Formats: sequence, C-alpha cells, structure tokens
Amino acid sequence: MATYRVGIVGCGGIAHFHGQNYGRYVDDFQIVAATDINQESVDKYCQEFNVMTGYTDYEKMLSQEDLDVVTVCTWQGTHSEITVAAAESGVKGILCEKPMTTSLGEADAMIKACDKHNVKLVIGHQRRFEALYPETCRLLADGVIGDPVSIVRRVGSGLLNWGTHVIDLTRQILGDPATSWVIGQVERKTDRYERRCRIEDLCMGLICFENDARLILEIDMPKPHLNTIFVQGTNGVMTSEGNKLKFLNDQSNGWEIVEPKSDGRDLWSEFKLWLDGEIETHRCDGRQARATVEIMMAIYESVRTRGLVRIPFQTQESPLELLIDSGMLPVEKPGKYDIRVPF
Ligand SMILES: NC(=O)c1ccc[n+]([C@@H]2O[C@H](COP(=O)([O-])OP(=O)(O)OC[C@H]3O[C@@H](n4cnc5c(N)ncnc54)[C@H](O)[C@@H]3O)[C@@H](O)[C@H]2O)c1
Repeated sequence: MATYRVGIVGCGGIAHFHGQNYGRYVDDFQIVAATDINQESVDKYCQEFNVMTGYTDYEKMLSQEDLDVVTVCTWQGTHSEITVAAAESGVKGILCEKPMTTSLGEADAMIKACDKHNVKLVIGHQRRFEALYPETCRLLADGVIGDPVSIVRRVGSGLLNWGTHVIDLTRQILGDPATSWVIGQVERKTDRYERRCRIEDLCMGLICFENDARLILEIDMPKPHLNTIFVQGTNGVMTSEGNKLKFLNDQSNGWEIVEPKSDGRDLWSEFKLWLDGEIETHRCDGRQARATVEIMMAIYESVRTRGLVRIPFQTQESPLELLIDSGMLPVEKPGKYDIRVPF
C-alpha cells in the first residue's frame, strides 16, 4: 500500500497531469478519491486513474475519506476555500495549483489554516524544477555577470495565469529575495475572464527586489513577446536559448554556453521528501507563492492608488476587483469571454 492517500479536487486538464505524476510514484502516493462539480468529469477521471470513489462535493470527500494529501486542481477563485477546508479536515499535505489565489487575503487564509493544523502547503509552480532556473540562480549567485540589475520577461495569457510562473521564476533565479516596491499599469477595456475570474486585457509592472534587481514584466502587451530569460548585470548579460544558458562578461571571449543539468527531483518527489520530514521545506512552498501573489496584487494596487506600492501592503481584497467594481476600469467593448474555460 502507498504511504500517502491522495484526494483530487477538480478533474479537468491539470488534474490529469497530477494523475500521471502520482502514477510515477505508486509506492508513495495513491489517488483514492476524486471530486468535480461535473459528474461526467469525475467519472472519467476515476476510470482513467483507477480511483475508488468519486464525489461531486469536495466537502463530502473530505469528511468521508481518510486522506493524507489533497491536490487542488480547480479554478483559481476556489483555491483558498478548498485549501482551508482541506487543512481543517486533518490532512498532512496540500498541493494546490497555481496561481495560489486571486487576492492576498485568501493567500493569508491558506497559510494561516495550514500553519494552525500543521499542514505542508505546496503550490504548483512546477517550473522551478526545470534545470534552467536553478542553474541561472547558481550562475547569478556566483556573480558571473556581476550583480543582477534588470530582468526582462514578456508573456501572454493573463497576469495570474502565466505571470505567476514568470514572477515566481524570477524570484527563484534571484534567490527568493523579498520585494521592496512595485509600480504598474493595467488596461481592461474588454470583459475578459480566465477560468471564471475577471482579468485584465494587458498589464505591466516594474518590480524592485531587496537586492535592487528589477523585473520589467510585460503581460499581453503588444508583440513581440520574449520567450527567454534576459538578465542584465553590473558586469555582463545572461540569456536563455531553448534549454541552454549563455552569458557574456568582461572576461569572456564571446558567449559562454552552459547546459543546465536537472537535480533529478520534481514537484511530487520533493513533496514526498517534505512529507516524510527528510527536507526542511519545498521549493514551491506556500510562502514563496504568497510573495508572488503579493507582487501581482501590488501591480493592481498601483493602478488603484496611482503610484508606487511599498511592500508589504495591506489590501486584502483583489485590487483588480475593487477597480472594476468602482468603475475605474469601464468595459468599452461589452461581451463577456473567457480565455480558458468558455462560458
Ligand atoms: N502548473 C501549471 O503549469 C498549470 C497548467 C494548467 C493549469 N494550471 C492551473 O490549474 C487550475 C485548473 O486549471 P485546468 O486547466 O485544469 O482547468 P479545467 O477547467 O480543465 O479544470 C478545472 C476543473 O475544476 C472543476 N471545478 C471547479 N470548481 C470546482 C469545485 N468547487 N469543486 C470541484 N471541482 C471544481 C471544474 O468542473 C473542472 O473540471 C488553474 O488554477 C490553472 O491555473 C496550472
């Protein structure tokens, strides 16, 4: 029998990815129950992953099953409520998908409930395990381009959707520094949603970390996007090219190419080590993700307060929701649409 009994909440796209990955560690994890508000989705999932019991109400699953781990794979607007309920149900660990939440208040509620019940909380920022990012972190820490000055990332599909990954990865390559301040701008002229949550049409943020490195973040801005990490340092530049890294400094004779090597861990194997008590923390632990939520909310808060937001800041609700509700971001082209789950 596997060590940890897992319950899945939300049986859509990403839940299949979790099903496959738990399937690679059958001695450690067994999915014993799954739930989805859609009966057909839960039935299909149980069949595909050989899950004993399916539910359409996650609270029922939490009260009827003896679970060690809950994996939350629902839309982001429900992550906090489900994580808090799972923590209160007595599990040992929760793996919740990204983005952690849609507001800082919800993120804090998750951390508080997990701390109170001694639950290990991991957020699905699984890209931290791609060899490229730990290697970039090592090279930057070794000072191969001096002190990092600015990092440029340009991606699409929503701040909370793709932005959460690139902010999280920027924090990782810089050694997870605290944030000092954020300033940003947001446009929402269409009634745009992502997985049932209202989102911006486009935004940008300038994020300053405690070591003075600054992330210039563009989300859904006019093309071209930039599918690379780009770091400028006090003594050189570093960029990625596919799975390789290359850098230039005042000693190099042309680009130096580095091929990153994986440390052999992934989100699930490191979760197991953490649950077993063999490691102190997980690289995707809830507090790291909370720092990313804080940056995303600070971009919205900067628009709301029309200025620079010093971290920490206190607004518990989503400043984007407050902006929309107060009429500060009026829709000019009516017509609700969702970029991921069509209405
Ligand atoms: N880590 C990654 O790279 C990655 C990739 C894709 C998606 N995600 C994240 O995973 C989450 C889900 O995305 P998806 O693409 O799987 O969406 P999806 O629409 O394919 O699946 C979500 C499922 O959750 C169910 N659901 C919604 N509310 C529920 C509730 N209260 N109780 C039970 N079930 C409920 C829906 O019916 C649906 O089947 C999102 O937060 C998304 O950002 C992460």
